[in-house]
Formats: sequence, structure tokens, C-alpha cells
Amino acid sequence: MTAAVERAITAARTIRASNAQERESAGVAAAARAAFTSGLRVARLRALVGPAATAAVQGAFLVVVGIGGTRVATGSLTIGDLVAFVLFLFFLVMPLGQAINAYTQLQTGLGALQRMEEVLDLPDEEAADRPRSDTEVSRLAPAVEFDRVTFAYPDGEPVLREVSFRVPYGTRTALVGPSGAGKSTTLALVERFYEVGTGTVRVGGVDVRELPRTELRRQLGYVEQEAPVLAGTIRDNLRLTVPDATDAQLHTVLAAVNLTDIVGRSPLGLDAQVGEGGVLLSGGERQRLAIARTLLAAPPILLLDEPTSNLDARNEAALRAAIDTVAARHTLLIIAHRLSTVVDADQIVVLDGGRVVATGRHDELTGTSPLYRELAAHQLLVA
Ligand SMILES: Nc1ncnc2c1ncn2[C@@H]1O[C@H](COP(=O)(O)OP(=O)(O)OP(=O)(O)O)[C@@H](O)[C@H]1O
Ligand SMILES: [Mg+2]
Repeated sequence: MTAAVERAITAARTIRASNAQERESAGVAAAARAAFTSGLRVARLRALVGPAATAAVQGAFLVVVGIGGTRVATGSLTIGDLVAFVLFLFFLVMPLGQAINAYTQLQTGLGALQRMEEVLDLPDEEAADRPRSDTEVSRLAPAVEFDRVTFAYPDGEPVLREVSFRVPYGTRTALVGPSGAGKSTTLALVERFYEVGTGTVRVGGVDVRELPRTELRRQLGYVEQEAPVLAGTIRDNLRLTVPDATDAQLHTVLAAVNLTDIVGRSPLGLDAQVGEGGVLLSGGERQRLAIARTLLAAPPILLLDEPTSNLDARNEAALRAAIDTVAARHTLLIIAHRLSTVVDADQIVVLDGGRVVATGRHDELTGTSPLYRELAAHQLLVA
């Protein structure tokens, strides 16, 4: 039921916009009814167990008094022995009741434990690690290197096939391609959210499987496509990467992405709330806040999944300026949906259906790659 309520509340706008309030309310009501029915069943079973235990004890009394009475009548048992036996039985009643109670509680606990074990049995991120202490990222090697990488999501067709490219330190590489080409997947593999099938992903010349995960992620800053902003204050959001950052540092990164005005907007300043999922900010502001958060940690390599949603001209210019600031100081691997981002790139990697179909600079690719020409003409310009 909690899951149903959370789903409805987090997507409140989408649900209203889809006129789906009644269906979603019905879903929550159904979940509530299911919880109610389960609660009723538990109560019924409890109500049965208690009286059943008492009845069993009372029955035992009757049997003892009946058989004991007959034996006393026939003279095979003294009245004293019978009284003693009945008294012992009295002492037995309490612990017996407790034992039954304990058994019921144990069963309830085991039910909960089973669900926890299901979660604990899920494979651990660290399970496949084989970090080597003697490895160190090198600035002489490419910042990011894909070496004939093939990858499929669990139970799926390969999403990337034999993908190879290199991103030298200090350069800007743009990944372009049609929707579903595997661009976001490529960044997820650099972050090692998934394990590659065959081939190797290297960061600073080291196979990502040989780097401890914390070390790998210290090298990388990742701004996701949906630019997740957490409910809370601007300060909370920025400090996610660096918990002890000073206000001066926060103001510096906000200025770098041209977001100073969101702090001035409220008398609370950095303590202003951004709302559930950042609903109090515009789409472009969310994206820039996410970039500012990543900048705070100052990672050498930045992975940026450009937002696909349409930004207005002012927001787009601000985002573009933010990316330029970032590019000056970091190595950038950026998924580009805008021509403005790709024309300045040192290298453009064109992905189609999980394969690298062309690599080069903008003016080269417009001549050599029909797909790139088409993307540039339509998708990149309008997106
Ligand atoms: N977590 C996942 N599990 C299974 N399949 C996935 C998952 N994420 C993506 N896919 C599939 O992998 C393919 C590539 O997805 P990916 O997100 O890399 O595309 P993309 O190039 O980033 O597209 P877009 O430009 O629309 O963001 C798609 O066919 C998608 O359905
Ligand atoms: Mg994507």
C-alpha cells in the first residue's frame, strides 16, 4: 500500500494530466483493501489460537479430573496424589500459553525475515570486484577508453556491439545518435553500473574492473539525463558530493553554472526548498543544479547526459555556457542532443543501433557520415 501511495504522490502531475486520478485512487484503495483483508485474516487466526489453547488446557483438566476421579473411586490412586497432579497441571497452564504465543510470534517474524532475505540475496555490487592495489590512473593514458565493448542488459539483446573509442584527457567528446542507440548505456558502463559482456572499459588506462569502485567514481562526475534533484534545500542538493563544502564554495559552483539568481530569489538563500524531485525549479535549472553538484567534487572526468526536453532559448544558452565553463577545466564525455554542443567538440562519436558508425569532427562528419548529416539536419537542431 505504501508503494501504491508513493507512486501516486511522486507522479501527481502526470496522473492529473492524464486524467487518471480515479484509476490511481482505485489502485491505492485496492492496495488498502488487500492490506485490510490480510490484517483481518491475521486477527481471525489470532482469535482462534488463543481460545483453542485455553480450550485445550480446560479439556486436559476435565480428562485429569475424570480419569483421576475414577481411579480414586476404584482405590488405585490416593486423593492426595490426584490433588498434587491437578496442582502441577495448574503450574503448567501459564508456560504452555506462553509457548503458544511465542510460536505465533516466531511465525510472524519468520515471514518478515523471508522478505528481508529475498532482498539480501540480490547480487551485491561489490561481488564481482577484483580491485588491484597496484593500479593507478595515469594522465598519459586516455581518460576514457572503450575497447571492443559488447554489452547486453540481463535477458536482453546486445545494446552495444564492439564499441571502441578514446577520450583523451582535456578534450571534449560528444556522443550522438538516434534515441535508443545506446548512449546513456555507454555512460552507465563508464560508471560501472553494469559489467561489460566482452571487451574492456578503461579509465586513465586502467580496466574499470581493477579499480576500487570509490576510486573509479572519484575520477568521474556524472549528470544523468533526468538530472535528479532531491527533495530538500539547494544546500542539501549541492552537498551530496562534498558534505562539508563551505557556503563560499557553493556560491562559486552556482555562479559557474549561472544559477546565482535561484539563491537570490528567496530570503532563505541556500536554504530554500527545491520541492519533491525539484518541482520548484525549471527543467534547465534542475539540470544546471545537477551540474553544479558534480562540479563541487571537481572530478577530472565529467560524464554529461544532456537533457532531451526542450529548453527555452535563455535556459539553453545558460546550460551551454555552463558546459563551456566545465569543458575548460575538465575532460568531457557528453551525450549531445543539441548541435550547439557538438560543433565545438574535439571529437564526435556517432552511435547507431549499438555500433560506432563514425568518429570525427563536425565538419568532417557532415561530409563522411550520412547518419550524422541527417541527425545534424533534423534531430540535433530541433531537440
Ligand atoms: N535498464 C535497462 N534494462 C534493459 N534495457 C535497457 C535499460 N536501459 C536501456 N535499455 C535499452 O537499451 C537500449 C539503449 O538505451 P539507452 O538508454 O542507452 O539509449 P539512448 O541512446 O541513451 O537513447 P536516448 O537518446 O533516448 O536517451 C534501448 O533499446 C533501451 O530500451
Ligand atoms: Mg539516453
